[in-house]
Amino acid sequence: MLETNDNQPLLEVRQVSRRFGALVAVDRVSFSIQKGEIFGIAGPNGSGKSTLFNIITGIPFPPSAGEVFLAGQPIHKLRPHQISRAGVLRTFQKDAEFATLSALENVYASAVYCGQMGSNEARVAAQQALDDVSLAAERRTKAASDLSVFERKQLMIASAIAARPKVLLLDEPAAGLTRPETSDLADLIYTVHGRGITIVLIEHVLPLLLKVSEHLMVLNHGAVIASGKPEEVVRNPVVVAAYLGKREAGL
Ligand SMILES: Nc1ncnc2c1ncn2[C@@H]1O[C@H](COP(=O)(O)OP(=O)(O)OP(=O)(O)O)[C@@H](O)[C@H]1O
Ligand SMILES: [Mg+2]
Repeated sequence: MLETNDNQPLLEVRQVSRRFGALVAVDRVSFSIQKGEIFGIAGPNGSGKSTLFNIITGIPFPPSAGEVFLAGQPIHKLRPHQISRAGVLRTFQKDAEFATLSALENVYASAVYCGQMGSNEARVAAQQALDDVSLAAERRTKAASDLSVFERKQLMIASAIAARPKVLLLDEPAAGLTRPETSDLADLIYTVHGRGITIVLIEHVLPLLLKVSEHLMVLNHGAVIASGKPEEVVRNPVVVAAYLGKREAGL
């Protein structure tokens, strides 16, 4: 069982890098997150955001270099299932549910495999998680593939929180949502946060990111180019140039 003290970051990433041949997708990134924080990550397409989540969770690969600590304990050498059981869970940019299983079965499977629960505990945890995300009771027995885009977001988050993570990494959860749905997603993030779960949020939808994040870090070409108060970071000329540069290049 991992214990935290007040001064120790809950999640600490030290100088992590990930290379793919000649490409350095994540370049000596360091940051730390306190328990209870909502930590935002922005950056142009291809800047290494998802790769950073990949190497923190070990899904599908560990860092090429650097260290990751959860409540002071090194986790970068653990296997992916050990990392999730230690309390670091993620969602994926693309749909990752079991399409033919019902919503309830999906969340149950996560509670069993990621949360390491027995069947009775997992059944209770699954219903509780679906209650938390407010997925309508009559939709819970539908196949995941029959759910709407927003319902699949609810399912994705329910699957993660059913396993009772300490830290939840959300990779562009607003992708594909309408503006009202994005506002509902912000409420959902606050609900999860209210359950005592620390959140790291990658998001291109800046209004959402700025609304919920207490701290914002920006990546470009795999490296941290700014980190601090969200309203200051978005005005940083280096950050503005990183985004405009991509746009001018037609990316
Ligand atoms: N498995 C891989 N093999 C080779 N290159 C990869 C691999 N995964 C990612 N990359 C490359 O690493 C870089 C960073 O990709 P990544 O998916 O982390 O970016 P991102 O910031 O999440 O982008 P987006 O905003 O489009 O999701 C890109 O150049 C990408 O092509
Ligand atoms: Mg990505």
